Amino acid sequence: MIAHWDSKYETNISEIDSQHKKLFRLINNIETVYEENKHHLSGKSKVLLDAVSELEDYTLSHFLIEERVMELNQYPNLEAHINQHNKFTDKILDLKNRLGQGNLLSNDELLDTFFKDLIDFLRAWLTNHILKEDLDYKPFIKFSI
Ligand SMILES: [Fe+2]
Repeated sequence: MIAHWDSKYETNISEIDSQHKKLFRLINNIETVYEENKHHLSGKSKVLLDAVSELEDYTLSHFLIEERVMELNQYPNLEAHINQHNKFTDKILDLKNRLGQGNLLSNDELLDTFFKDLIDFLRAWLTNHILKEDLDYKPFIKFSI
């Protein structure tokens, strides 16, 4: 199932909303690769590696901007929010490391489990983090960057 952007995700900070839209695209891209290659995922190992690297780059630049905006607006739950970001970053790094271990990239069964974990994790982030923690700072933002 493809994740659809909806106005309920809007923070009304244009830079952050466009980055969140990009995350939707990255997730949908991963899901499409998975759905279309379910029976021979090892043939798509390069695409998977690229997708995880793109997620890592996205994460670093997006969190930096979000954290700067929250700081600039003296958002009171900044520290807890940064902790959530750090956990997400750790998970992405962990996934990236798993890809480099053993024969994962050539094993269809292990890749299937890997893809399912990755997709579940990303989907949970959309509903648990963007719809909760990110919307929580929305009323505090008076200045953008
Ligand atoms: Fe956030």
